[in-house]
Amino acid sequence: MPVQRMSKKQSLTPSIFRMINEELYTNPSQQSASRFKKEPELFEVYHQGYAEQVQQWPVKPFDIISKYLKQLISKKATPVIADVGCGQAKIAKTFGKQLNIQSFDIGRTPGDEDLVTLANMTQIPVQAATFDILIYSLSIMGSDQKSIFTEATRILKMNGQLWVVEISSRVKSTDEFNQQVEQFGFKLKETKDYGFIFVSVFEKVGEKKGKVTELLGPCIYKRR
Ligand SMILES: C[S@@+](CC[C@H](N)C(=O)[O-])C[C@H]1O[C@@H](n2cnc3c(N)ncnc32)[C@H](O)[C@@H]1O
Repeated sequence: MPVQRMSKKQSLTPSIFRMINEELYTNPSQQSASRFKKEPELFEVYHQGYAEQVQQWPVKPFDIISKYLKQLISKKATPVIADVGCGQAKIAKTFGKQLNIQSFDIGRTPGDEDLVTLANMTQIPVQAATFDILIYSLSIMGSDQKSIFTEATRILKMNGQLWVVEISSRVKSTDEFNQQVEQFGFKLKETKDYGFIFVSVFEKVGEKKGKVTELLGPCIYKRR
């Protein structure tokens, strides 16, 4: 049912959020990009539901990323940063005055047009080796994950960093996940388990080198 035909109350029900979430996690990126392009209002519905979920989490992805960004600020570092799958661009809204942060997503909230570039993370519209740091905070959703990590390798500068924050239940083990990501030309620098979520920081050290078997499983939220 197109979202514009639903009442406001209906459109914000958790079941709609779960439906969009499931689609994002099980379809290839291009299909999700087309869905948000056709029905842009879905993006806001999704983010309403997502914000409600995050509120209940003991550790928030934004707080983990913020810690790393504050370290950069205190070191007076000036990296070019991409927040890919930025959602409502909280990172750029919070740190954009102190750091060079470019935000990308397949949808955006009205009012964020100047801040968020509409782009599929398998084809970010920049030249190779543009960024020093890439942030993927809960944004590796599409089923075409190999294309997502191949694009990460392309757009990062050599020795640039990839920061991945993800839900722990999406991986069999973080060690296995980290080893798989390394096959795309990365070296693990640091990984931290927060229980419910984990963060892994990789450095780009080369190009894709090995065969990848499995990355992340979907993250399907339970009915309440
Ligand atoms: C769970 S939200 C996380 C948002 C934000 N990064 C955070 O940590 O709060 C995932 C975001 O990734 C975006 N996304 C999913 N697939 C994408 C793709 N192929 N390219 C770009 N963004 C994508 C979604 O639109 C959504 O805004």
